Amino acid sequence: MLFMLACSLQYAVIIKKSSIIYLVFILGFMMQCTSTKEKAEVKSKPSTIAIDTLSRFSALPKTVKSPPDNPSTKEKIYLGRLLFFDPILSGNKDVACATCHHPSNGYAESLDLPIGVNGSGFGRKRSFNQPNDIPFTKRNSPSVLNTAFNGINVYDKYNPEKSPMFWDGRVESLEKQALEPIKAFEEMRGHLYTKDNALNVVIDRLKDIVEYHDLFKKAFDVDEPITIENLGKAIAAFERSLITPNSRFDQYMRGDESALSISEKDGLDEFKKAGCGKCHNGPMFSDFKMHVLGVQENDKLSKIDSGFNNTFAFRTPTLRNLQFTFPYMHNGTFNSLKEILEFYEDLSNGKSRNPLVPKDSLDELVINADVGVKNMSKIISFLNALNDEDFDKSIPDRVPSGLPVGGDI
Ligand code: HEC
Ligand code: HEC
Repeated sequence: MLFMLACSLQYAVIIKKSSIIYLVFILGFMMQCTSTKEKAEVKSKPSTIAIDTLSRFSALPKTVKSPPDNPSTKEKIYLGRLLFFDPILSGNKDVACATCHHPSNGYAESLDLPIGVNGSGFGRKRSFNQPNDIPFTKRNSPSVLNTAFNGINVYDKYNPEKSPMFWDGRVESLEKQALEPIKAFEEMRGHLYTKDNALNVVIDRLKDIVEYHDLFKKAFDVDEPITIENLGKAIAAFERSLITPNSRFDQYMRGDESALSISEKDGLDEFKKAGCGKCHNGPMFSDFKMHVLGVQENDKLSKIDSGFNNTFAFRTPTLRNLQFTFPYMHNGTFNSLKEILEFYEDLSNGKSRNPLVPKDSLDELVINADVGVKNMSKIISFLNALNDEDFDKSIPDRVPSGLPVGGDI
């Protein structure tokens, strides 16, 4: 009985694939299931691999999980939001998290490589003050929207304590991630103090502000609430409030057939057929794994960015809210979705754009991804149905330090 069930499960999975594969597999399926049980078990191995890379998509959950030791509360979110906009967290008191993750830009940024320390201006107009000895931040700024779901798999499972963060997944959880930019030289720290000292200096500054003492006390009811750990927890709780689970794609997946237009539905089909979902899958349209695509280097950087473990692999980004994550890829070297699709078309023809990444080290899933020029506009219209404008865009009127809200922007 169980054996029969296993057979029918495989069948159900296969039926979701394109009609051609469906026929081929039906035959395989019948042969497999009519032979002995032992044989069927051995043969079922390859289909496990098929399930792993399955193009499976779903709506985003409407609620977020928090780590057991950091449940979200109104007080924590309120505090986290003020910290997010307060440049007191930076060496020269001029850069806030919001400088590079501003609500007007969907909590992302519009420069290819962001300018943190010693910069001024907002969006595309932001530039370095002169004189300047601070480099560009080495990667494109992702959106903070939906990072609460980082790591979620095709079965909607995730562990917020293990959520992968950054283009190379080098830090896990929003709590830990929030402390990194404060220590990073070009993002927030600058020359004033060392990396090892950064968090202690910032904590001392917060302790000197009575309003922060009260707000931390309300959020964490302990004797000495202003700690490095609680700083990370408050910011993480605020970030978990920034989700967009109501795009037209989500409405469609929850049963509203009319939420997507015909060309967007066609686009979804083409997206699947092209093999995009081998990596961009699950509710976030990301497997959160590392893949080598051989994106060209950004000339603004003096050093090569060799990605995860020097393998030139980068993490599959979400495809939600692409209207805000522009310009694209880990180093912002693509200016439009059309350029990206042309890039994938080149890859499927075995062309690498990065001379340091030989053809045979490109991810085989991407070599097999075949877009087809005539399908590009359909795929793009589908991708646009993953945008969702309905998130908290409010900016606090003031922050407890009294400094300019969002830094020098
Ligand atoms: C100077 C611009 C800048 C500032 C300031 C900044 N960030 Fe970022 N942020 C980035 C860049 C660039 C990345 C990607 C870096 C990488 O992958 O190596 C990033 C990545 C992230 C991520 C990971 C998103 C993901 O999906 O991997 C989160 C979350 C985040 N930042 C939150 C914050 C918070 C919280 C602060 C303030 C404490 C902050 N950022 C300050 C530019 C900035
Ligand atoms: C082998 C896995 C894989 C496949 C297949 C794949 N992608 Fe990607 N995608 C990635 C990775 C990894 C990145 C980031 C690469 C980088 O920054 O160096 C990316 C980046 C992107 C981005 C940029 C997002 C942003 O915010 O910067 C878009 C858009 C995109 N892919 C769309 C697609 C489409 C459409 C397809 C199908 C034609 C596709 N991808 C196929 C892994 C994949």
